[in-house]
Amino acid sequence: MTNNGARRSSTWFGASGRAGMNHRSWMRSQGFTPEVFDGRPVIGIATTWSELAPCNVHLHRVAESVKRGVWQSGGFPLEFPAMALGETLLRPTAMLYRNLLAMEAEELIRANPLDGVVLLSGCDKTTPGLLMAASSVDLPAVMVTGGPMLSGKYQGADVGSGTAVWRFEEDLLAGRMTAEECVFAEGCMARSNGHCMTMGTASTMASMAEALGMQLPYSATWPAVDSRRYETAQRAGQVIVDLVNSDLRPSAIMTRDAFENAIRVNAAIGGSTNAVIHLLAIAGRLGVELDLDDFDALAQDVPTLLNLQPSGQYLMEDFCYAGGLPAVMRELGGLLHGDAVTVTGRTVAENVVGAPCWNREVIHALDDPFQPAGTGTAVLRGNLAPDGAVLKQSAASAHLLKHRGRALVFDSPEAYYAVVADQDLDADEDTVLVIRYCGPRGYPGMPEVANVPLPAKLLRRGVRDMVRICDARMSGTAYGTVVLHVAPEAAAGGPLALVRTGDWITLDVPSRLLTLEVPDAELELRRSQWTAPPPQASRGWTRLYTEHVQQANTGCDLDFLVGGSGSAVGRDSH
Ligand code: FES
Repeated sequence: MTNNGARRSSTWFGASGRAGMNHRSWMRSQGFTPEVFDGRPVIGIATTWSELAPCNVHLHRVAESVKRGVWQSGGFPLEFPAMALGETLLRPTAMLYRNLLAMEAEELIRANPLDGVVLLSGCDKTTPGLLMAASSVDLPAVMVTGGPMLSGKYQGADVGSGTAVWRFEEDLLAGRMTAEECVFAEGCMARSNGHCMTMGTASTMASMAEALGMQLPYSATWPAVDSRRYETAQRAGQVIVDLVNSDLRPSAIMTRDAFENAIRVNAAIGGSTNAVIHLLAIAGRLGVELDLDDFDALAQDVPTLLNLQPSGQYLMEDFCYAGGLPAVMRELGGLLHGDAVTVTGRTVAENVVGAPCWNREVIHALDDPFQPAGTGTAVLRGNLAPDGAVLKQSAASAHLLKHRGRALVFDSPEAYYAVVADQDLDADEDTVLVIRYCGPRGYPGMPEVANVPLPAKLLRRGVRDMVRICDARMSGTAYGTVVLHVAPEAAAGGPLALVRTGDWITLDVPSRLLTLEVPDAELELRRSQWTAPPPQASRGWTRLYTEHVQQANTGCDLDFLVGGSGSAVGRDSH
């Protein structure tokens, strides 16, 4: 609503004279009857559909279901495209463009005659990107994620997208799988529309949207091809009209309590470490106080309840049939802020009361968890990561959580890949692989390259995990004892840039420490000899991004995009 109580869209469509005629007439070229301009809520449907983003390719169909719900409830739906970020194709990394999607969608929502918006996302970055946009504009909003693919099936067994790729790559390197078998397996992993069906970043962020209260209960888990996905989308179309009428905005839903709920749910589902970066960025748009240490502190007393790949055995389809996210949230009970309000207009507690669990193998009970409390995301600090780093304990090897080894340093993943198959590589199972200059500025875009495969000679000896340290991210579908998101990154002059091959490094996860065993005086000497890498780009988005991107410990937003500017627009030029 505007200050005088009129609907925001009516300042376009309800205007008199030439301006109003312009706004209405051109819309009628689409065949709309004049009644759609009678002051009813105008609902934007932001879709990240693209054939270049296969995880989101069915969102056109989802949008049609949303439109049905909007019409049913007396609204006027208008679908519009927002930048589609496909994780598998975009180079150098889709993360380079998350903030561009957020900026584009923010401007489109604000600049158009919309009273509310439905956000259609799926692949990893599309969910946080759209939530960041909606947070900054703060018009009523509902998210509908596209849902996971059906479970992959290969040689009679379930295979998880993403997670299986890492394993197949290692099996190929170790000679346990042929190239022909790999090609066949590719088709077995992606059997339907939808995003990755492990608890990767897409499934995690869909769950985070639901835990934050921004999408309807069960939205995160219905498979993309399930009729109930479309039923939920239609319901979301009805709900957004209610939200506009009640003026319930993202800032009233995504409160500090909602973020605390999301962090605890993320621990319970064994969610992706990428949620740390994305939730920090969304909170930054809303002005909610949240910092890196909250992710460790709030998760300390939350056990992992969900037995899903990559931390466990099952896949999103199993999670759906076992009861979905409401069953997990109901199980968490008093660990959550039950009075947090959601897009349903009801509280979290009201949404999940009575949510059944149908399979305790998949969703464990709080008193019989899949993994004990304290095995979630650990936040590490020390002279190697003064601003923090993270490690996903549930995906790591227990015997490596306290480890001391000599560094083997590479200034890029490519440099490491050039020697990974080298039989003479000076590495054993105690070696600490350091891969650097892969952070937000360094790569640029902070790609998911931290979990580099182990040296081939060690894989052949049966070694399955080693400590790896990197200023990049790791796919939510990946596993291993990998220290991620080291801040400040090497390209920003963080101490990671000063490590040399042969240095001793100590990882002590129980004490939350990451220590480079080099005297301060020696580090100062090395710093005096260090030169920053040249800029990644002289023009365009990459230049804007690298000049303004913040570090991982605050969410990698651009410094000038933090916060919100609301839904008010500049003067009408017509
Ligand atoms: Fe799109 Fe995994 S590649 S969700």
